[in-house]
Amino acid sequence: MKTKIEQLRKQFEEEKNNMHSLQEIEELRLEFMGKKGLVTALMNDFRSVPNEEKRELGMLINSLKQEIEKSLQEMKNTLEEEELNNKLRSDKRIDFSLPINDKTGSLNPRTILQKQIIDIFVSMGFIIEDGNEIETEYNNFDSVNVPANHPARDMQDTFWLNNGEVLKTQTSAAQNRILKEHGPKCRVLFPGRCFRNEEVNSTHENTFFQIEGVVVDENVSVSNLIYFMEEMLKGVMKKDVKVRLRPGFFPFTEPSFELDATCPLCAGRGCNACSHTGWLELCPCGMIHPNVLKEAGIDPEKYNGFAFGLGFDRLVMIKTGLDDIRYLNSNNVKLLKQYGTKI
Ligand code: DAH
Repeated sequence: MKTKIEQLRKQFEEEKNNMHSLQEIEELRLEFMGKKGLVTALMNDFRSVPNEEKRELGMLINSLKQEIEKSLQEMKNTLEEEELNNKLRSDKRIDFSLPINDKTGSLNPRTILQKQIIDIFVSMGFIIEDGNEIETEYNNFDSVNVPANHPARDMQDTFWLNNGEVLKTQTSAAQNRILKEHGPKCRVLFPGRCFRNEEVNSTHENTFFQIEGVVVDENVSVSNLIYFMEEMLKGVMKKDVKVRLRPGFFPFTEPSFELDATCPLCAGRGCNACSHTGWLELCPCGMIHPNVLKEAGIDPEKYNGFAFGLGFDRLVMIKTGLDDIRYLNSNNVKLLKQYGTKI
């Protein structure tokens, strides 16, 4: 019987080399392990061997059985895997030989920072609004207290359209509409693209972004303005930032300020980014002029508020370390990749 076991093992080893399909493997299984298979027949013979040989022969038959089963399973696995790969290869949509596609896009650093700023203001109770890119002369200038022939209209070299409308020169152009819509108790943030007929250089773009905010309520104070701006800057810079106000001039605010923040890059010690002053000029702002409130139908005797127009591109440049504003509009994929996730 021992020789028979050995013969079967050999036979199986030989036959298994000719397996090319799952069907053939199944036939091989039946030949050896099926009800009328060779190993099953061996088991039947086993019943009639003398008791003293049973132990040794039993072990030999068992290990042959296990070997065959294991081998059949392995052959099945290999063939199944090969079949799957063949199927995938013939499927035109997936080509595993192609290099991995690393051309996935990244967000513009502006978009990333804008989302962060929006989240910070939303957490402080602000509503987010949108503005138009083409505005009426009234919205862009008159409604925010910029009278005809006022020097501010020249200061902001405007792209005038043939129909007398303008490419919005400032996000403040949406103030009147937003104040009318949200009424005398509101906190609204409205980011937007602005346009000015300027010569383009490393610090000036004709197409740039601002983020404007207004808060109107009873008894709003300059300290409220400082608080909101400090919170926003702390959130963006991920460190404590102090702000200071210097006098400024804008027709839509009285008093008007220029808000500076301690330079986050040198912590106020002085570096190239802050022209060695320790301060970055970041955000013009002020207490909303009573005329602007009145024009939006809000009683300036009862309500007051502040507004700010964050020079957003400047903030993006500080955060990314980019030293030329033109990069931000360039759609340079390499740059977007590098900075798009850095902020
Ligand atoms: N609109 C101004 C500009 O583009 C910036 C500005 C100044 C906005 C003061 C404001 C503000 O809301 O209060 O130059």
